[in-house]
Amino acid sequence: MNLKNMDVVSIRDFNREQIEEILDLSRKMVPYARGEKVSRMLDGRILGNLFFEPSTRTRLSFESAANRLGARVIDVSQVSTTSISKGETLADTIRMVEAYSDVIVLRHPHEGAARLAANFSSKPVINAGDGAGSHPTQTLLDLFTVQEEKGSIDGMNVVILGDLKYGRTVHSLAEALTLFGAKLTFVAPPALQMPLETVKHVESMGGEIKIASDMKDVISDADVLYVTRIQRERFPDPTEYQKVAGMYRVDIDALREAKKDLIVLHPLPRIDEIDPEVDATPHACYFRQAFNGIPVRMALLAMLLGGEL
Ligand code: CP
Repeated sequence: MNLKNMDVVSIRDFNREQIEEILDLSRKMVPYARGEKVSRMLDGRILGNLFFEPSTRTRLSFESAANRLGARVIDVSQVSTTSISKGETLADTIRMVEAYSDVIVLRHPHEGAARLAANFSSKPVINAGDGAGSHPTQTLLDLFTVQEEKGSIDGMNVVILGDLKYGRTVHSLAEALTLFGAKLTFVAPPALQMPLETVKHVESMGGEIKIASDMKDVISDADVLYVTRIQRERFPDPTEYQKVAGMYRVDIDALREAKKDLIVLHPLPRIDEIDPEVDATPHACYFRQAFNGIPVRMALLAMLLGGEL
């Protein structure tokens, strides 16, 4: 399957076969991601990393992925250091960065920014998170983590807990898990439930969805618990945030009824929604999940830029 030069704006850009191919190559990339093997397959290529919102994992793992394959990275991590602060448009900025690089990775506070960038760039654009929109490469690494940890995605009971309204990672994830035959339960404060558009899309794909307001009611059947933080920065009104802050927390007590082999995932950063005492339990997979961002992004860069192991 040829993904060369493709834009990665939404997980909907991929079919299941394409995702499986990315996950298969990601598995082969693991020893390279760990530095146990060396590849220069992207020697001479340049990645333009544009981060107009804070990031630790996505920005650094794209940079690490590119470096591990021999590519170089040019990057911007603050709008204030670019000519956008003088009034330049995103479209003109993208025109510049496409002239300076071979692939563009964009994080932006506005939903739709990655699609706009892709429309203006002849080089592949990868959406690294657009506002409350989506974060497709996070979804790819989430799928990879479930496959690696559980052996399969098909038939898994996945409980998605947290801010499902503003948490962009869970929108793409719900759709992709459905593509792979997982069963979904959404647990959120009522004001932060999954947007209707995502629910309808999952249902149109034949997905099974349960809705719950308390994790205690559903934890015993879960194979995967995917936790997200409340996205304080996306609330138009800070008092609305105060009403839901701290409404859920995963600690050892909350996991008492869980299956022994339940895995707990989180895209990170976490604030207070997973107690650090969970980190030492066999359930905690979120740090391995974060590492998986490197092999998955290596695989994606290799496929978009036409590199071969
Ligand atoms: N998971 C994730 O997107 O983390 P960062 O915001 O640190 O990139």
